[in-house]
Amino acid sequence: MKDIASSTNTLLAALTYAGTHINKDLQGKAWVGHTPFAYWLVAALKPKILVELGTHGGGSYFSFCQSVVDNKLDTKTYAIDTWMGEKQAGFYSESLFKKVMDFNIEHFDNFSTLMKMTFDEALNEFDDNSVDLLHIDGFHSYEAVSNDFCTWYPKLSKEAIVLFHDTHEIKPGFGVHQFWDELKKEHREQCFEFKHSHGLGMCFPKSSKAAINFKKEFSLDLEKIFNLFSIIGDDIYYNINGRYSLQKNFQLSIDDLVKILKKLKTDNPELSNELKSLF
Ligand SMILES: C[S@@+](CC[C@H](N)C(=O)[O-])C[C@H]1O[C@@H](n2cnc3c(N)ncnc32)[C@H](O)[C@@H]1O
Repeated sequence: MKDIASSTNTLLAALTYAGTHINKDLQGKAWVGHTPFAYWLVAALKPKILVELGTHGGGSYFSFCQSVVDNKLDTKTYAIDTWMGEKQAGFYSESLFKKVMDFNIEHFDNFSTLMKMTFDEALNEFDDNSVDLLHIDGFHSYEAVSNDFCTWYPKLSKEAIVLFHDTHEIKPGFGVHQFWDELKKEHREQCFEFKHSHGLGMCFPKSSKAAINFKKEFSLDLEKIFNLFSIIGDDIYYNINGRYSLQKNFQLSIDDLVKILKKLKTDNPELSNELKSLF
């Protein structure tokens, strides 16, 4: 794993990969901060079978796919989604699926399959112990994520990695953080996580040996590599989403506002006069 993944070229390619497919047509802004890591992880793991539960506009999925192409891997990838949406992601029209399908045909047709169905319906299409990388990003309630993990668990190969998006999203209706905390309690040494871009958890749920080998192979470099992905990913996230964007109905105190304005002025001295003229 180490040779390819830590080679300077692979790392540089991943650290400079920002997922240019993430645009107003094929959204994926919430996930965008993880695109360099996803790209690198696929190069490192070289999975035979990769499955994504919850693809929407392909923000995450096409980042995995691009790594398969650039690293000349023989991975087969599967994206599963009803492409109808739900109340957290929002409901959307058939035209989004058409855009995702066209993009897939144009760039990744020889190894990537879109499966327009529910996660439960897709289970029968996969052999037990066959999936090497599973990304869970469907409905984010505690019950849904727990069901997705438990029903797909038998499909995972011995050394499989499972990724969970939204492990750092703490708001009503979002229970991935709770499920992730439980998983960490049970498999502390097998879990790794990023907090930026709404959080991404990574777990080797079936094998502590695989997690130990992963850490050993990178030894001290692993922490540095993860830190680099956090810094770069966080920057990509805020470039796309805006550093000062606020949640709907967010009540800002005067102190918060002053802090933001001070930071704006420090980061952008050229704005100083314009800000003064506003008040
Ligand atoms: C958060 S979005 C996925 C975001 C995507 N990974 C990205 O990078 O932008 C969740 C998606 O999961 C799909 N979904 C949720 N529950 C599902 C289920 N049980 N079966 C199939 N699709 C589901 C929704 O249709 C929605 O498109």
